[in-house]
Amino acid sequence: MTVENPLRDPRDKRLPRVAGPSVLVLFGVTGDLARRKLLPAIYDLANRGLLPPGFSLVGFARREWADEDFAQVTHDAVKEHARTPFREEVWRQLSEGIRFCQGEFTDDAAFEDLATALHEIDRTRGTGGNYAFYLSVPPKFFPLVVQQLRRVGLADAPEGSWRRVVIEKPFGHDLASAQELNAITSAVFPETSVFRIDHYLGKETVQNILALRFANTLFEPIWNRQYVDHVQITMAEDIGIGGRAGYYDGIGAARDVIQNHLLQLLALTAMEDPVSFDASSLRREKEKVLKAVRLPDDLALSTARGQYGPGWQGGVPVPGFLEEDGIPPDSVTETYAAIKLEVANRRWAGVPFYLRTGKRLSRRVTEVAVVFQRAPHLPFTQTETEILGQNALVIRVQPDEGVTVRFGSKVPGTAMEVRDVSMDFAYGESFIESSPEAYERLLLDVLVGDPPLFPHQREVELSWRILDPIEEFWAKNGRPDAYPAGTWGPRSADEMMSRDGRAWRRL
Ligand code: BG6
Repeated sequence: MTVENPLRDPRDKRLPRVAGPSVLVLFGVTGDLARRKLLPAIYDLANRGLLPPGFSLVGFARREWADEDFAQVTHDAVKEHARTPFREEVWRQLSEGIRFCQGEFTDDAAFEDLATALHEIDRTRGTGGNYAFYLSVPPKFFPLVVQQLRRVGLADAPEGSWRRVVIEKPFGHDLASAQELNAITSAVFPETSVFRIDHYLGKETVQNILALRFANTLFEPIWNRQYVDHVQITMAEDIGIGGRAGYYDGIGAARDVIQNHLLQLLALTAMEDPVSFDASSLRREKEKVLKAVRLPDDLALSTARGQYGPGWQGGVPVPGFLEEDGIPPDSVTETYAAIKLEVANRRWAGVPFYLRTGKRLSRRVTEVAVVFQRAPHLPFTQTETEILGQNALVIRVQPDEGVTVRFGSKVPGTAMEVRDVSMDFAYGESFIESSPEAYERLLLDVLVGDPPLFPHQREVELSWRILDPIEEFWAKNGRPDAYPAGTWGPRSADEMMSRDGRAWRRL
């Protein structure tokens, strides 16, 4: 029976594709990502009618759970975190396909049971041997899991079916480890079956960078060194590291998000127009940008890093990074990172790209700001021209998703006074549909087999090539600078900008 779906509007061109018969096998079901993002996203897809009736979800973990226990965990996660309303009939249909396999990754018998369970699902639910294996587990377990999958014959797709593996960042902690990791997965799965998730690419506003640039004539003529003064890419978070000390310590802000999310934003902002939006054309253009990235000679002057100390957030006192559970008191892991890069090609030579990210900053905001050069001449005697800002085009990735254009305008009155104003596009006002969550989009793409929004291994490696020298430099040069929680990061980051006669945007 197919559940009738009021949320599926046939005119909805954003996600017109429906997954074919398939099973999603989730390793790491007890993790935070599964509970907060993956399980709710699966429900949201089902609720929008984008999963086939026989779709099945198999959880694999150590817990002594029965199918019903995993279904209950999924149910609770959906109730708490799903984007779309809870509908009993959708849940009932989805839960009929929920199974659980108990075992350790070292446990051969558990993988044999998994294979048996999957074949049984094929028989009873018509899933046709199409399996996506989602490894929401620390990378140190990847080798074991993929080898087990191969050993029990689950990695090889029989004629007419498919097998895919989904891996989450971090893809290694430097170039060498990223290559090692890739060697392990590529020994078992062909590149076309490997889906690397960088969830920023699943965000509507991030995809909109391409629409804004390449669906319009307005912006592209000025999107270059002749008009652009610099670009600022910010990903600020107000949260601390929460319960993720085990993952975060020794990784830090640059590896956690600059290597992937921020360099992907840079690539989309700086790339040339792709011949089409298929995976190979898109990836090729992004790779060219990443290949063209140059670091300034003096990393002491062109990077900054910080570590949050105790402070205040939302009116409550919060501990510093070194006081967080599980963080050693002498940790030198940075929770804030800022770097300056150049894209050495004809379009961008000489235009600095400033990237910054941090935890426990004043507020949560991610944006790409293209800041234009000042007008060459300002014939307005009544205006204190130095207070006129620079024109800027700001892509607001989150929250308040939209685009802002900032420009000078005459202040009403008898004098010719000019002041900066903003013109805004807000998703909430222009579209009635709410945006799907990044994981909804990406999980559907995996099941449909659509790879453009997944970085290729070459992009991963090029990104590590950019970051590795910075990490090496930092490792040899003392501790990160302290900044109080709830502020905009260390003073060294402001100094890095003021040396260039610029300032971070005040957000
Ligand atoms: C993850 C990082 O990739 O992105 C986290 O590991 C970070 O440290 C998260 O908090 C932020 O994602 P979003 O979608 O909330 O901006």
